[in-house]
Amino acid sequence: MAIFPEQEIKKITTHQIQEMKTRGEKISMLTAYEYSMAKILDTAGLDILLVGDSASNVVHGHETTLPITLDQMISHASAVVRAVQRALVVVDIPFGSYQGNSSEALRSAIRIMKESGAHAIKVEGGAEIKDSIIRILSAGVPVMGHLGLTPQSIYKFGTYTVRAKEDAEAKKLIDDAYLLQEIGCFAIVLEKIPAALAKTVSSNLRIPIIGIGAGPDVDGQVLVTHDMLGINNDFQPRFLRKYAHLNDIITNAVRNYVKDVKLEDFPNMSESY
Ligand code: KIV
Repeated sequence: MAIFPEQEIKKITTHQIQEMKTRGEKISMLTAYEYSMAKILDTAGLDILLVGDSASNVVHGHETTLPITLDQMISHASAVVRAVQRALVVVDIPFGSYQGNSSEALRSAIRIMKESGAHAIKVEGGAEIKDSIIRILSAGVPVMGHLGLTPQSIYKFGTYTVRAKEDAEAKKLIDDAYLLQEIGCFAIVLEKIPAALAKTVSSNLRIPIIGIGAGPDVDGQVLVTHDMLGINNDFQPRFLRKYAHLNDIITNAVRNYVKDVKLEDFPNMSESY
């Protein structure tokens, strides 16, 4: 198997994501919220760009994902879609725009698809939002599920600790995963659960399981880009591997710029007209 088979694929579809699981190729996914970064991520060969509601935290500075609005998510998603040539673009439906009833859920999903040009949406939850997911799927919108630690429910959980360690919660998660597969979701994100449980779900379900803090035995991995690039240093969970330390690099670059401006070193004549 080629290490970078992405170079052979022109445009990733939900069908190709499914085929990756079938042939045992791991799926790579990161978050994206704006044009310039999305262009870099897409060119680097990611399979899926998630316009996550983590934008609420890392872009807008909120403590939780709850405050971000549907309009804000559509604006982020539109910018990402404009940058992308190859990756599948999946957009989180934000808190408060699908929990009311299935008509509201459908309206929100259609707004995202129509106004941003994204390829799929993601929703948090299982049996409790079954009717909404069915309604969205019946309109032809691909849906990715999200189980385990679902940040939109943080005030119900009370903490961001590992979920589904107890038998009852693990059983509900497995039941929900089967339900999401049965009604037609094309993939599921499992967040911050024991690796053994994620392995059980991934090996028993046909659809791809993408983990974040769910161990290695799943079909793909997702991280928040600002965390893995070391832009945001406030968040250091055990599951996070940092691939760069951009906070230090940017801080040094900006300090040098400030110094050059103060010392009247920038701009010089060759940088002037
Ligand atoms: O919003 C987000 O970034 C997410 C990922 C953590 C999966 O949902």
